[in-house]
Amino acid sequence: MGKITASIKGVGAYLPDYVLDNEELSRMVDTSDEWIMSRIGIKTRRILKGEGLGTSFMGENAVKDLLKKTGVDPMDIDLVICATVTPDMFFPSTANIICDKVGMKKAFAYDISAACSGFLFALTTASKFIETGSCKKVIVIGADKMSSIIDYSDRNTCPIFGDAAAAVLLEPDTDGFGLIDSELHSDGSGAQHLYLKAGGSAFPSTEETVANKWHYVFQDGKVVFKAAVSNMADVAVNVMERNNLTSDDIKYLVPHQANLRIIDATANRMGLDKSKCMINIDKFGNTTAATLPLCLWDYESRLKKGDNLILAAFGGGFTWGATYIKWSYDGDVSTKE
Ligand code: UT7
Repeated sequence: MGKITASIKGVGAYLPDYVLDNEELSRMVDTSDEWIMSRIGIKTRRILKGEGLGTSFMGENAVKDLLKKTGVDPMDIDLVICATVTPDMFFPSTANIICDKVGMKKAFAYDISAACSGFLFALTTASKFIETGSCKKVIVIGADKMSSIIDYSDRNTCPIFGDAAAAVLLEPDTDGFGLIDSELHSDGSGAQHLYLKAGGSAFPSTEETVANKWHYVFQDGKVVFKAAVSNMADVAVNVMERNNLTSDDIKYLVPHQANLRIIDATANRMGLDKSKCMINIDKFGNTTAATLPLCLWDYESRLKKGDNLILAAFGGGFTWGATYIKWSYDGDVSTKE
């Protein structure tokens, strides 16, 4: 029997109904469709409306979609990890709340906070439970309700982000499919360039923190852009080289959807044609921890068993990483909806 790897057996997703387009944004702040499309590459993003609906609502629906598609009983799930920076609340974890809502009563569950790299961090962590044999069925969710922490009077940040959740099911594989390699990095000195200042233990919520708009995302876009371009490309190339993969061997780059220019730069460094990049930033914007599984969901029907995928992300923290996955099943368009 071969080495045990953690293999993705299905993908589910949830997208809120409300579509916020560039025309509507242009009425909220001094911006334009032309600027947003040329500088970022986003046309529309989804926004979760409804009082009291948080990230767990989207995660719950993504997991229900996943379980329906794969035919797996919620009681058979051993572990659930949710990557998010917009949990419903500090505690309990959003993963815990999702387990309760979906009926995954036997699973243990926790959240991982690594911003836009969260899904890769969670996927890599989850795979260890499979590889060691301690879990047989693990769900990894990437979910963020970014609209809950965005200032819709700040044109530097409000065009970028959207809300979504997507989830994958991991199971053991002994035929060489699944997560083959992963390289993750963190650099806390980047915290000053992309953060949400208040509401934590350093600056608990007060009238002053609210008045100062410290409960919204701050981003020094130029600094983050430069760091994202170099680090995402470096780590993706490292993973390619370490696994003796040429650009011809790769079916798709699955890049974090932060900026079309960052995606292009990463693909160029890898020697990949743009047709080999999963891209849906135009439709959904930057959904933080959800971007990578949402790409897998969007492109699932085009994937074939044995396809080599490189997933790569960069985000707040700073955090970044890349993962090499050998896809384990033929996508089925009829299961999507
Ligand atoms: O996912 C987490 C990681 N995040 C990222 O990877 C994001 C990285 N950063 C970026 O993607 C880009 O830096 C942004 C999209 C955030 C900004 O694009 P940029 O090309 O770096 O623009 P900039 O911040 O340098 O601003 C250029 C100009 C400025 O005007 P002046 O000072 O040259 O007159 C801005 O005020 O564009 C202006 N500007 C806008 N104009 C119209 C900034 N935002 C807007 C806007 N509409 N929404």
